[in-house]
Amino acid sequence: MRTRPADDRLPYHEDPTPGSGTLPPRAWYAASDAARLSLDGTWAFRLTAAADGTGAAFTGDDPDGTATAGWDAITVPGHWVLQGHGAPAYTNVNYPFPVDPPRVPSENPTGDHRRVFDLLGDWPDGGDSVLRFEGVESCARVWLNGEELGTFQGSRLPHEFAVGRLLRPRGNVLAVRVHQWSAGSYLEDQDMWWLPGIFRDVTLLHRPAGSPADFSVHAGYDHTTGEGTLRVDCEPAGRVTVPELGLDLATGEEITVPVEPWTAETPRLYDAVLATDGERVPLRVGFRTVRVEDGVFKANGRRVLFRGVNRHEFHPERGRALDMETMRQDILLMKRHNINAVRTSHYPPHPAFLDLCDELGLWVVDECDLETHGFTSFEGWRGNPVADPRFTPALLDRARRMVERDKNHPSVVVWSLGNECGAGTGLSAMAAWIRERDPSRPLHYENDPSCPDSDFYSRMYASHEEVELIGRRAEEPLGDPLADARRRSLPFVLCEYAHAMGNGPGGLAEYQRLFETYERLQGGFVWEWIDHGLPRVTPEGRPYWAYGGDFGEELHDGNFVCDGLLFPDRTPSPGLVEYKKVVEPVRITVDAAAGTVRVTNGHDFRDLAHLAFGWRHEVEGVAVASGTLAVPALAPGDSAYVPLPPAPATELAGEPVWTVTAALADDTLWAPAGHTVAWAQATAPAAPRPAATGTAHAPSRDADGIRLGAARFDPRTGTLLALGGLALRQGPRLDLWRAPTDNDLGADWQDDVRHAPLWRQVGLHRLQHRVEAVDAAGDAAGDALLVRARVAPAASDLGLFAEYRWTAVGDELLLAVTVTPDGGAWPCTLPRVGLRLGLPGAYGDATWFGGGPGEAYPDSRAASVTGRYAMPVDALQTPYVRPQENGARAGVRWAELRAAGGAGLRIAAGDDPFWFTARRWTSEQLDAAEHTTDLVPGDTVWVNIDHAQHGLGSQSCGPGPLPRHRLEVAPAAFSFRFSALGGPAA
Ligand code: GAL
Repeated sequence: MRTRPADDRLPYHEDPTPGSGTLPPRAWYAASDAARLSLDGTWAFRLTAAADGTGAAFTGDDPDGTATAGWDAITVPGHWVLQGHGAPAYTNVNYPFPVDPPRVPSENPTGDHRRVFDLLGDWPDGGDSVLRFEGVESCARVWLNGEELGTFQGSRLPHEFAVGRLLRPRGNVLAVRVHQWSAGSYLEDQDMWWLPGIFRDVTLLHRPAGSPADFSVHAGYDHTTGEGTLRVDCEPAGRVTVPELGLDLATGEEITVPVEPWTAETPRLYDAVLATDGERVPLRVGFRTVRVEDGVFKANGRRVLFRGVNRHEFHPERGRALDMETMRQDILLMKRHNINAVRTSHYPPHPAFLDLCDELGLWVVDECDLETHGFTSFEGWRGNPVADPRFTPALLDRARRMVERDKNHPSVVVWSLGNECGAGTGLSAMAAWIRERDPSRPLHYENDPSCPDSDFYSRMYASHEEVELIGRRAEEPLGDPLADARRRSLPFVLCEYAHAMGNGPGGLAEYQRLFETYERLQGGFVWEWIDHGLPRVTPEGRPYWAYGGDFGEELHDGNFVCDGLLFPDRTPSPGLVEYKKVVEPVRITVDAAAGTVRVTNGHDFRDLAHLAFGWRHEVEGVAVASGTLAVPALAPGDSAYVPLPPAPATELAGEPVWTVTAALADDTLWAPAGHTVAWAQATAPAAPRPAATGTAHAPSRDADGIRLGAARFDPRTGTLLALGGLALRQGPRLDLWRAPTDNDLGADWQDDVRHAPLWRQVGLHRLQHRVEAVDAAGDAAGDALLVRARVAPAASDLGLFAEYRWTAVGDELLLAVTVTPDGGAWPCTLPRVGLRLGLPGAYGDATWFGGGPGEAYPDSRAASVTGRYAMPVDALQTPYVRPQENGARAGVRWAELRAAGGAGLRIAAGDDPFWFTARRWTSEQLDAAEHTTDLVPGDTVWVNIDHAQHGLGSQSCGPGPLPRHRLEVAPAAFSFRFSALGGPAA
């Protein structure tokens, strides 16, 4: 490793040691009776290309703003690259600059920000005032009224300066020079957009004489006695009152009283006041105790199961400058989707977010602002800052700023050192400091396999198989027996799993089953919460979401930045709907034959008294009757059987479906009464369909081709041309292709089979159909039109024989298909096996009975509700940021596509329900599109009716579909019934 001379004097922004002039970190709180002045709003701004910025004039005491005359205006908090200055850039692992720590490029975008402010009329005398920055990326130098206050790094951490001596009633000049690149950038290589700027609040806070320099709230809970113990340490001393508990105690004094505990399920907070001579600080105290005990992470004595997500702070217009509304919206969405935990990947969030977690109830793994992933590209992580003593003070500074800021939140139950930094003494130094400062919370770190600094064995993207081994404490041993014994004794979390990029993730239900089976497996955190797509418009003004590479970046990682459960505008994706179902905290099993419902309370702490249970009975998706179900207030972990009412009498014919729901009985802070928390259905087993009735028709040839009942076929190709008045654009024929999902494509570092690259290599996206026989003479089994084809790609001897057997009975046209692989061993799976047909564009309204309302795939179909749905074809599409296969409805018994006048085509399942997809572009067009605006509706509605689909898996970063969800090449047989629907032909 190259070494630099020890006396190398580096400019402050390249100096890896913590900045200068800042105050020691302390607890954050939203408000108190001390005066505060927000400095958010419009600032003067100028961007320059190098660290000198605009030069010295800007830093001076210049209330009239001569130095900044003619500058642009910028909104603080904000990122200049999202406000028309420069451009955002996305890289995952790579540093977008030469790696030569702690040096950064001379081309260092530097934003000079300046704001002139008056003090409020009544800004108090005495005491001091501090200027607080909640977050500036990545390095700042600050002047007030011409005097330099100091410099700092550590983008998503708070920094304060004492400024009382410099303040004057009017015309205070605050100048902040912000560098995009600094030594700190080496510690901030998180997988996200590089977004410089003053992106969190700037506040002037009065610190009256005798106000707390800092305070620590210790509020534990003893589940064996039901008592809480409260002690508030404060300098200087003061008193704490908790009116609801009748408490009035001195700081430093400890009191034990009966309380209701805080948990994420029951976020009980007690309002309190900390009063010192100088200030009254409102507190919200939550009593809870967390610890790792007997190899299990427990809160208040009980094992916790994390149903978590990784949350980056992201807003499509404002980047990481989040407002309160967005933070609250994130938590409401999480709570409404049964999520109970957040890992603040990979930096402490805006401090107000944690107040909301306290209030609404989420377990928080608070992660430090630290990632050095780019060093993984070098042999042995050469040069890694966490193993470079020059950076250790900065690492300790980061740990301290996080812990001191966030220590008083009951929701914060685990400290995480950072993400993907390999191993190093700097991490151990952080861990040692945190353990000393706050022994009340366990530590988490994932990226050092022997876990020396972690109280959890944590992994990301481990396969189901490996997770199961870990659950049984039977994982592969570490080389060092002592380290192995220690690791084997730790509780396990998947700090990241189920990569939610594009269509997916698949396999959630199978992970959840493992978490619920093995005590050691304490759940996980889906990667990740939201797609970081940025809004753009085409030259024609059509909006779309941009991703890496769309801003001319030299190095970038494409749409890997769009891998969330929410679309960029916070619309839930099908993946989130699936996650909600998979992690539902009540398990319901409906046994229609036995007339019982089994209910299991899967909460960790709450009984079921807060839920109201109901039942619904439908026949073929048509409501027949509904009612309530009396379920006892089961304790966590308990189960009971309750009777279903007798099946209601009905004239309706068709498949009966029972649905049982558990919904909130009363309004909560996060959802109204009636919000569904859990549900289950009992559908009839795939009953044999009643045979078609009516006269059997025989095929005949005439001048127009081949006729069979109401159908007409092309005599050469045997393709269905028309049915009744409906002229098809493309008759049904075997289809195997789907536009690869990000998970089909897999990540290029994956060793396992990656499915879509193989599909393409074999040529499944360019199949040719060679018609071998069109036989209208019928067969031994009846009056059938038989069409035989071999479907195969050019340049390959692999192919599939497809036999289409068409018959017509009454008004129905029946099709039985058999598929037989040919040509030896296939090296790949198949995307789908089914039929594709094309209808005139007017047939744009879909109705179906089967799974819905949203899409589903073999390993992501828990959330699919059997019912009757109606939707325009346009609404069947899921607009993944990078277009890819989407929109399939599972378990469909029949589907109809109609034109405005009512004419249409009905497709009913033969033996088995099918997968139904309809769109106004082909799979090939979907495959070719890079952004949603590349998809232009054509004049055909393309319909896929599939016998089978390949699973989704999570291979864009994790494992592919489980073996049972892979669609292997094998003989298949399936059937459909088609009929033309009345109404004038379109
Ligand atoms: C992990 C990493 C995350 C993200 C994810 C892939 O390795 O910790 O930050 O990059 O992979 O999306």
